[in-house]
Amino acid sequence: NFGMQLLDGIKLAREIKQEIKESVENLIKEGKRPPHLAAVLVGNDGASQTYVSNKIKDCEQVGFKSSLVKLPNTVSQTELIEAIQKLNQQEDLDGFIVQLPLPQQIDQEEIIEAIDPKKDVDGFHPENFGKMALDMSTFLPATPFGILEMLERYDISTRGKHAVVIGRSRIVGRPMSILMGRKDFPGNSTVTLTHSNTENLSYYTQHADIVITALGVPGFLKAEMIKEGAVVIDVGITRVDDATTERGFKLVGDVDFENVKEKASWITPVPGGVGPMTRAMLLKNTLLAYKNNTK
Ligand code: GUN
Repeated sequence: NFGMQLLDGIKLAREIKQEIKESVENLIKEGKRPPHLAAVLVGNDGASQTYVSNKIKDCEQVGFKSSLVKLPNTVSQTELIEAIQKLNQQEDLDGFIVQLPLPQQIDQEEIIEAIDPKKDVDGFHPENFGKMALDMSTFLPATPFGILEMLERYDISTRGKHAVVIGRSRIVGRPMSILMGRKDFPGNSTVTLTHSNTENLSYYTQHADIVITALGVPGFLKAEMIKEGAVVIDVGITRVDDATTERGFKLVGDVDFENVKEKASWITPVPGGVGPMTRAMLLKNTLLAYKNNTK
């Protein structure tokens, strides 16, 4: 299949960041302050550290102010809640994220619910999740939002198509399934949400026009599991040991890329697909939080 095309998240994210940068330049010309995003990083998980430092770098690139709140792995529930309340009250701060996952002594749900929904630029708070599910204006979770933006900017038709989502996490699979089924474009798909208890998963993926994998199992989706011409979106990004690389690991998606690309019409690479879009959408949400906060 020589018709396969790559969904280039790096290129799209660059375009989106350029648009945001121009918006910030206009704000500054009008004598306004720049948008301000903070990130809370707990502990020293390697992947989380990378994600957070990338988010801070993105802020610098578009002219946002950024802050990093670092807390030890041993932080207590109360201390973490207090840190969040401080950010909730900080007037010149438009939005913040608490990088997940959190250490096991922490009740993640209670932490998410402590975030002021107006500053919840991850869109994880139940109030924002509910608004999303009801088609109300709110912050969309960055990864599903980035996938929608990618489908839209590549003009991939989703209306009436069968979209199969694999994985039902609160930050990717679950919201993705809701958004793909919404009336607005992109969306309007017929959605099947599959997960670890789905029987005969291949049956669903073989009947999918669009497959979105968010499991974190390297190379899980094989060519036999999809139909010819399917659109394949790979959200998985797992660190796999690889002594031949400088960092000692490589990043591997949920899709058996080399084989699946021969059958797909469109496919996202890993890295360079969904990841950069997630980062760009966090900036979009922060700009929205700023507009709400300063009007
Ligand atoms: N962990 C994995 N993805 C995300 C994300 O988008 N936001 C936060 N806060 N944590 C994550």
